[in-house]
Amino acid sequence: MATMTAKIIDGKAIAAQMEEEMKVEVAELTASGTQPGLAVVLVGEDPASKVYVGRKEKSCERLGIKSFGYKLPAETTEEEVLKLIDELNAREDVHGILVQLPLPKHIDSKKVLIRIDRSKDVDGFHPLNVGCLFVDQSPLPPCTPAGIMELLARTGVELEGKTAVVVGRSNIVGKPVAMMLLKENATVTICHSRTKDLPGVCRSADVLVAAVGRPEMIKGDWIKPGAVVIDVGVNRLENGKLVGDVEFAAASERASAITPVPGGVGPMTIAMLMKNTICAAKNAHTLKNIAACGGGCSYTSCAPGD
Ligand code: GUN
Repeated sequence: MATMTAKIIDGKAIAAQMEEEMKVEVAELTASGTQPGLAVVLVGEDPASKVYVGRKEKSCERLGIKSFGYKLPAETTEEEVLKLIDELNAREDVHGILVQLPLPKHIDSKKVLIRIDRSKDVDGFHPLNVGCLFVDQSPLPPCTPAGIMELLARTGVELEGKTAVVVGRSNIVGKPVAMMLLKENATVTICHSRTKDLPGVCRSADVLVAAVGRPEMIKGDWIKPGAVVIDVGVNRLENGKLVGDVEFAAASERASAITPVPGGVGPMTIAMLMKNTICAAKNAHTLKNIAACGGGCSYTSCAPGD
């Protein structure tokens, strides 16, 4: 079989392009009286979480979004986190609230996520917002899955009628991205640790999304020739090297397009978080103006998934 060298889907470049588009929106919104604001809550010292939170804050800075950082010690109690969420929910200058996961074990993340005001849930993790996704009415879609869909759209990947295989069933990536692929009329299979003949199922995929968190678990010869491969994994090897869930070099010889790690899905997650924050701020701005004019004006809100 002739080998193919896949096109590299450059998430970093696509995210940078989105940032340029969003800078304009933020400037307009700020000029009209609402500077978008994002609160980022980090509890504890997880090194990877610190890096992610730092990247989110830097992106806010580049775009002109006001960021409010809350770096709390690992011993912070659940009550204290809930109290902070209540305060952030009530603030007019905070349009998005993000609590970095994982939280320390003594804090119930479900209790924390459900406490976030749904209109400020820029991570899209509130159970009611998750439910909205299942009926194609997601006001603030979860960032990594939305970033994957944006990458596919901006790369010109046609999904209608295609076989999409998602490896991994997490609430953050696997389940929501499967729903989004279904919405675009792909035929979707979700695989997990008990799936029989995983290599065989993967070989049926026109579009393969790998989100398991195991270094290079998906082998090059599991890739259907010509497939599009999206690698969500970020795994640090003992030698310090960062690799995805897919054997990149071998998969690149069969795929038509593939995301690298790093520089593929990761930057898109942050870009979508910024997009959700702007969307939440637009909605708050609209509501404020409708209230100010007694409902007689024609402000429109940010459409679901806009
Ligand atoms: N931890 C890993 N990914 C994410 C994410 O997308 N959002 C939050 N809040 N925490 C995470």
